[in-house]
Amino acid sequence: MNDTFLKACRGEKTGYTPVWLMRQAGRYLPEYQKVRSKVDFLTLCKTPELAAEVTIQPVDILKVDVAILFSDILIPIEPMGLKLEFSEAKGPVLHDPVRDAKAVARLRDIDSGADVPFVADAIKILLGALDVPLIGFSGAPFTLATYMIEGGSSKNFINTKKMMYRAPELFASLMKKITAAVINYLQSQINAGVHAVQVFDSWAGILSPVDFERFALPYVQQIISTFKGKVPVIYFAFNGSAMLRSIQDSGADVLGLDWRIDMRDAVVKLGDNAAVQGNLDPCVLFGTKELIKDRVSGILNGARGAKGHVFNLGHGILPETPVDNAVAMVDAVHEMSSR
Ligand code: CP3
Repeated sequence: MNDTFLKACRGEKTGYTPVWLMRQAGRYLPEYQKVRSKVDFLTLCKTPELAAEVTIQPVDILKVDVAILFSDILIPIEPMGLKLEFSEAKGPVLHDPVRDAKAVARLRDIDSGADVPFVADAIKILLGALDVPLIGFSGAPFTLATYMIEGGSSKNFINTKKMMYRAPELFASLMKKITAAVINYLQSQINAGVHAVQVFDSWAGILSPVDFERFALPYVQQIISTFKGKVPVIYFAFNGSAMLRSIQDSGADVLGLDWRIDMRDAVVKLGDNAAVQGNLDPCVLFGTKELIKDRVSGILNGARGAKGHVFNLGHGILPETPVDNAVAMVDAVHEMSSR
């Protein structure tokens, strides 16, 4: 197996900088669209053979150094007791949002092996088919809480913040339940054989630093300390560049960066405490090949002093992205970082 990615996560020397793209299995690929045209998104997530097929697509097409399981951060919320739907227009919809003590009390503990067996089944197929490592993942408790409380995506997250500020104990009891579910969910993926895990905190950036430290960070720390030393753990708090020091306190081996910080500043702030991943604006892939090369080179140079470096975008690849530009980016990383 090509273990360049795992070495970079651990801060070991590598012959080149490994690269993958968040959301690398997805709608920008005609091969994904073809599979997706036959089944809806949730069916795709829940059918191991199909989930495995689309997981492998970007490894073959882009030649990335790692695969990420095709699934969604909202999958473990269904067995907790909320009905999940994906609407083409609105994105994810969770019915009966969790806004009071009764709703929190109703949430069930999950047993991933029994509740979401398709996840471990997809992982088993993939381990037999891939010659690169496989990343498992979960949403972070705060991000999952926003979906559960708001009932879907949100602009100002007023219901979430109302619960945080007016009913902090209720919010804490919700976060405890979600944290237990996330630990169970990640443990089952690790038991099935994933080589690393990423915790996505897509909405951490809506919090002030003081609220991040109080309402989000302790739960992430609990999750990461559970898995520390077993597999590399990546923590990605989108829009979190202004809170990098608190984010580093998560204890993750690798920290995901969006594009709002200069890689050089991130490396100075983090020192030898964590490896870095990310930083390229996904919209750079709409630029010319020359621009893509230039920005890749800037990030590679900026990350030179880092403990370890995994090249990635600063958020998910967008559905309209030209595939040949994504290929050009991966090639540029491999060529320019070769040592
Ligand atoms: O990275 C990968 O290739 C693995 C698969 C993956 C998906 N979602 C597939 C997906 C991963 C790791 C995720 C994580 C995820 N899901 C996050 C965290 C990352 C981030 O983007 O911040 C979040 C917030 C979600 C929730 C979610 N899922 C939303 C808001 C949406 C709708 C918006 C959108 O992009 O369509 C989804 C749907 C989704 N998840 C799609 C894919 C490929 C599109 C579904 C389709 O085919 O129509």
